[in-house]
Amino acid sequence: MIQYQDHLRDITEASLAEGFFDGWPNPPSYAVFMQILRNASSCILAKDEQTGKVVGFITALSDGVLTAYIPLLEVVPAYQKQGIGQELTRRMIEKLKGIYMVDLLCDPDLQPFYEKLGMRKAQGMLIRNYEHQSGRTHPQ
Ligand SMILES: CC(C)(COP(=O)(O)OP(=O)(O)OC[C@H]1O[C@@H](n2cnc3c(N)ncnc32)[C@H](O)[C@@H]1OP(=O)(O)O)[C@@H](O)C(=O)NCCC(=O)NCCS
Repeated sequence: MIQYQDHLRDITEASLAEGFFDGWPNPPSYAVFMQILRNASSCILAKDEQTGKVVGFITALSDGVLTAYIPLLEVVPAYQKQGIGQELTRRMIEKLKGIYMVDLLCDPDLQPFYEKLGMRKAQGMLIRNYEHQSGRTHPQ
């Protein structure tokens, strides 16, 4: 069974299943992963009750008044296609329902996934500083 939680109380680096940041050439370490989870305005985790490991997560960054951005959603490959990604997103959208702007960026092949959850297509702009893909070297 998968359990969902929106806090990090019982979570350490060792709780995070292997396989996150799949395909990233220069992924963040799991210490940095913990920082990402801690610093997010909200995060929701999917935990395998049997192993106690976190197998999926979604984060949001928000000003708490008008806007929120969903930067990261991932389910480790072994747990994909079981509805976990959909449930994490549904729960985050519910959590952000008092917020006017809720935005995210995704590849076109994932647009139907988000459309099913009530989001609509938009255009966006971005910068990627690839030298910092594993995390900021000198946090301010
Ligand atoms: C996207 C992701 C979170 C979905 O998680 P999941 O637990 O497998 O998703 P669910 O089981 O809830 O839903 C599966 C649905 O998503 C669709 N889907 C998942 N990944 C997809 C992809 N890359 N392209 C197109 N559709 C995709 C499946 O086809 C399926 O659709 P269906 O219900 O019509 O069959 C997961 O594939 C993942 O972690 N991918 C790598 C990271 C990523 O791309 N994150 C999104 C950043 S915007």
